Amino acid sequence: MSDAPIDREPPVDDLIRAGQKQHWAATFAAHPDMYGTEPSEPAIAAADLFTAAALDSVVELGAGQGRDTLYFARRGLRVTALDFAPEALAAISRNAGVADLADHVTVVRHDMRQDLPLPDTTFDACYSHMLLCMALTTAELEQLVREIRRVVRPGGLVVYTVRTTADAHSGAGIARGDDMYEHGGFVVHFFSRELIDHLARGFELVDISDFTEGELPRRLSRVTMRVPGP
Ligand SMILES: C[S@@+](CC[C@H](N)C(=O)[O-])C[C@H]1O[C@@H](n2cnc3c(N)ncnc32)[C@H](O)[C@@H]1O
Repeated sequence: MSDAPIDREPPVDDLIRAGQKQHWAATFAAHPDMYGTEPSEPAIAAADLFTAAALDSVVELGAGQGRDTLYFARRGLRVTALDFAPEALAAISRNAGVADLADHVTVVRHDMRQDLPLPDTTFDACYSHMLLCMALTTAELEQLVREIRRVVRPGGLVVYTVRTTADAHSGAGIARGDDMYEHGGFVVHFFSRELIDHLARGFELVDISDFTEGELPRRLSRVTMRVPGP
């Protein structure tokens, strides 16, 4: 893990980034099942890991419409799902109710550029599929992983996925600074291995696995870390 500071390009324009909330809200309103209802590959891997370790509570960051949230709940995990898009959170609550899983799912509307509205050492695990690679600057990511380390108990697990610099959209589209590129109105921060190592400071880095998803295909890494402690 690197302690060296990362070279930073100027941060993406604040107005462009502020517009992301609206863009996601409109997208979810127009596409009620944007990512489908089946769990993602990393969610299945994470649920296997969490249940094998007898973990119980999971905070999910950038839950979207809840394809993975509902899967975790079906696997018996208690999930607190955060996202800044109200349409997405409403879909999670609705679907959790229909599936009789409402007692396992809590939704919280939150913008990850702010500190997490959650108490210290509350969760056994954190899971996040394609949230850290949204329009978050390196400085905001550093603060977000500090917050993850604060809310996950010592010994707890963190599994996150990000699109990487190997992705076909990395370096293409409209450059927004700090390895962020805009395609179709969405700003994505493409992660280098250096950034993954940098953000792992203060954690035990357990595993990095590459995988693909979707039609491009998106090229991603699944990163597993442990919060130091018992
Ligand atoms: C690529 S989608 C992934 C959704 C979900 N994890 C999935 O895989 O189905 C990214 C999600 O992050 C949310 N998001 C993006 N930037 C955010 C921010 N700054 N704060 C909170 N949520 C954000 C979006 O609303 C969207 O639901």
